[in-house]
Order: sequence, then C-alpha cells, then structure tokens
Amino acid sequence: NEAIKVGVIGLGTVGQGVLRLLKDNADEITRRVGRPLRVTYASVRDPNKPRDCDLSGVTTVADPMQIARDADVDLIVEAIGGISPARELIETAVGRGISVVTANKALIAEDGNRIFDAARQTGASVAFEAAVAGGIPVIKAVREGLAGNRVERLAGIINGTCNYILTQMQEKGTSFDEALRDAQRLGYAEADPTFDIEGMDSAHKLTILASIAFGVPLDYASVSVEGITKVTPQDIQIAQVFGYRIKLLGIAKRHATGVELCVHPTLVSEKAMIAKVDGVLNSVVVHGNAVGEVGFYGRGAGGDATASAVVADLCDLARTLGVDARHAVPPLAFQPEAVQPLPV
Ligand code: NDP
Ligand code: HSE
Repeated sequence: NEAIKVGVIGLGTVGQGVLRLLKDNADEITRRVGRPLRVTYASVRDPNKPRDCDLSGVTTVADPMQIARDADVDLIVEAIGGISPARELIETAVGRGISVVTANKALIAEDGNRIFDAARQTGASVAFEAAVAGGIPVIKAVREGLAGNRVERLAGIINGTCNYILTQMQEKGTSFDEALRDAQRLGYAEADPTFDIEGMDSAHKLTILASIAFGVPLDYASVSVEGITKVTPQDIQIAQVFGYRIKLLGIAKRHATGVELCVHPTLVSEKAMIAKVDGVLNSVVVHGNAVGEVGFYGRGAGGDATASAVVADLCDLARTLGVDARHAVPPLAFQPEAVQPLPV
C-alpha cells in the first residue's frame, strides 16, 4: 500500500515524539489506518541540534513555509507552538486543502475561530486532540462520546507542569524554582514557562474544552486566570494539616445567562479523587445531564504522551483522506446560541 506522506513542522519535544511513535508503532498504525504513515518532510530552526528520532528518509528544510505551501505531503503536523508563524503555516496548508494536526492550544484558543473558518473554505481539517490534557483523548470523548448530553459543569487539572511543581513541593519539599527547572528538563513546560505557571496554558485548554462541552464560541478573554506563582510552601503545609491539597484547576460552569470560566489554585479534600492526581498527570471530570459524572485521567504533557494524541489525529485524518471535512464532525461542534462565555 502506498504510504501517506506526512510533513512535520517542529522537531522539539512533541515533533520528535511523533517521529518516534510513527516508527515504533508502525505495524499497529498501518493495520488501523490501512496504509503506512511516513514522515517525508520536517522543518526545524537549528539543523545542527541533535534529535532523539530517526530522520533517515526525511527531507529537512529550513523554511517551514516550504512544507505548508509546496511540499508533496498528504498531511501536516504543526509542532512549533506560538501564534505566529504557526497560524500562517496552518492557514497556508489548509488553503491548499491539506489537513493539519496541531498541539498548539494557544493558537486554537486565541485564533481557532479564524483557523477553522479557513479550513472550512477548502474542506480541510484542523485536528487538535493534543492541545488539551496531552495524551488523554478528552476532545474526542467530550465532542463525540458525550454528544447526547447537556454538559452542566467540568473541572480539571489541565497543566502538567503546575501539577508537577505542586506535587514536588508537597511530597519532597522541592523549591518552586527547582521543580520548574525539572519540569522544563522533562519536556513538560512551554517554551515560555510563564504560560504554565501564570495559568494561561490552563486557560487556553479550558477555552477549547468549554467550547466543545457547552457549544460556546472560543473566547479566551472570558477566562478569569490566576496561576500558582503565589502558592508558598507554607500554604501547601497548612492545607495538608487540614486534610487538603492545593491543585491548579480549570473550572467551567453553565449558568442561566452564560458559561463561567476560571483557572485558579484550589483547595481540594485529600479524599477527593482529583487530590490523588499527582506529578505530570492530568484529570478532567465532566458532568453531563444524562451520563452523570465522567472522569478522564492520564499523562498531560511530555513527548510520548502528546505524540499519542497527535498520532491519533493523524490516523483519523489518514482514514478519511480525500473526504470533505464539511461532511464530518465539526471541530468544535458549536452552534451559536444564547449561551455565551460570561465576561470576567
Ligand atoms: P519545543 O520548544 O520543544 O519544540 C519546538 C520546535 O519547533 C523545535 O524543534 C524548534 O526548532 C521548532 N521551531 C520553532 N520555531 C520554528 C520556526 N519558526 N521554524 C521552524 N521550526 C521552528 O516545543 P514542544 O514540542 O514542547 O511544543 C510544541 C507545541 O506542542 C506547542 O504548541 C506546545 O504548546 C504544544 N504541546 C506541548 C506539550 C509538551 O508536553 N511539551 C504537550 C501538549 C502540547 P529547534 O529545535 O531547531 O529550536
Ligand atoms: N506545558 C503544558 C503542560 C504541556 O505542562 O501541561 C501540555 O499541554
């Protein structure tokens, strides 16, 4: 069977994980998709950096736009992060009908409405399972698995870096700065870790999840955000004395007039399931009016876990290659309606 050709823009933690996974699990993936997936093009900033993946048979180019605009590929993975040039790259690719998989929650949360519009023009897809909660397949589960429910509320630990830092401070007495450095070394943190520790990364993810769960447009500006930089070792100790843990939660609630979105450090009883979600693990609990409470749990960051979600999207798109995405499940499944995100 002829291989499906994939271009990967960015070979950092996520991009390298994708190349490794496509190689290591090639047999399973080929069996599931019906055709092999082969990375034929990749783009990086620094061609001299050593990479922890096999680049044989991969043409590397300096200009990522070359892949988006011209390369002979069937699908593209955007794994560079940030708003620009990631947005221009995705818009160029979907403009010529090439579907894109991205892990870029900042871009989807802030500019997703525009990107999905661009994709709709040509019938291409932009898939983003990896953008929320790393390896946990929560986008597909909420969008498709809970499609029959009216979601009333959801809450979760959706930043692995912050959960790792809080856990290290709690369990080992590690300092905030040292725990952050560890999270960076392990590939969990954003290129600019301020996004993690000040709560913006959780807010990006909450924006996306809420859009899917409540059917509201993406509206990042409506999230009230507080990160973990003011949490002290004393706060953690005092909480522990009273039987609580401090967790950075993203919380979304439906009200009669709209949907309230907030991210903040939260005291949770040590008996609650979410209190036991430690380290890089993430967890999301969604309450649907038919199913009741549904929980998701797994690794929220890191190359291999995130690659699992990226490759799942690649498999989905590979199976439906050539099918006009306007006839498929819409990315956010949102119908503009009365309920809107509430202003902060
Ligand atoms: P990294 O910083 O590890 O990697 C970024 C990669 O993009 C590097 O290979 C870099 O090249 C390349 N790059 C950056 N700018 C350009 C450019 N202009 N042209 C070509 N290549 C470029 O980031 P991550 O892999 O951690 O993250 C990538 C995306 O995935 C982000 O959107 C992030 O939010 C998201 N994500 C990350 C997760 C994680 O656990 N790390 C989990 C879920 C999502 P070079 O190596 O040469 O510098
Ligand atoms: N920096 C993010 C985190 C990566 O720590 O959760 C996964 O989205």
